[in-house]
Amino acid sequence: MPTYDYENKVAIVTGGGSGIGEAVAKTLAANGAKVVVADYDQAGGERVAKEIDAEGGVATFMLVDVSQAPEVETMVAKTVETHGALHVSVNNAGIGGPSAPVGEYPLDGWHEVIGVNLDGVFYGMRYEIPAMLESGGGSIVNMASILGTVAFGNAPAYVAAKHGVIGLTKTAAIEYAARGIRVNSVGPGFIATPLLDANLDAATLGVIAGMHPIQRLGTAQEVADLVAFLGSDAASFCTGGYYLVDGAYTAQ
Ligand code: NAI
Repeated sequence: MPTYDYENKVAIVTGGGSGIGEAVAKTLAANGAKVVVADYDQAGGERVAKEIDAEGGVATFMLVDVSQAPEVETMVAKTVETHGALHVSVNNAGIGGPSAPVGEYPLDGWHEVIGVNLDGVFYGMRYEIPAMLESGGGSIVNMASILGTVAFGNAPAYVAAKHGVIGLTKTAAIEYAARGIRVNSVGPGFIATPLLDANLDAATLGVIAGMHPIQRLGTAQEVADLVAFLGSDAASFCTGGYYLVDGAYTAQ
């Protein structure tokens, strides 16, 4: 596994209690970061924080629903209170949402997906950026998706939210580039995590794996390695970017 210098860095990982966020939290902690595992799943988030502690890392669990701005504001404030600063944020929490075409899409499902996957990323940056400015700069990685640049039928809210995340990322990047904050987004292909298992049956997953030229799903660790690079000082000239980790899905 590549290593990056996260000594004396404080990081928040939203959705850190499962899947990609879990792999990111563990990877940043293994590289020396003090990690806040933020999730609305208490059991998952506490498990990940405990596992990091057991490996000799430093992690705190925080219960937060990223679709609620006051909770996100509190998450950032408590992080700074606990660790004295905020240097790295990975706005990763996300949900799949209902499966239906645009003309039949349930309105409540639309609002729920946009609330978590797009509002949640905005709320994150809204409060993380001032804290990072106070901390002398930082790096933000927002979890988009290949579906941030291409469509996927029956997932209009998800696709719209992920397209939005990329635009929001670019905007924040140009606004804060000269003030020491880098902002990037990541575009994973389909990754084997509980989110996929919850939304797709085994036969569909097999078909989807075959849609990647590499002929398999990705792993959470493969995404975490890219996030760890972008979050670190090794990526010092990377900002405003959208970085694929997709087995050539969108190269076709
Ligand atoms: P997952 O379901 O394994 O983990 C998501 C985590 O986010 C869970 O721990 C969940 O409790 C948490 N979460 C959900 N809503 C939340 C909220 N409102 N507040 C706080 N925490 C919340 O999913 P996975 O696959 O690890 O997804 C993580 C991110 O990666 C999501 O943004 C997803 O859209 C994105 N992604 C996933 C891909 C995949 O194929 N699995 C592909 C591309 C992007």
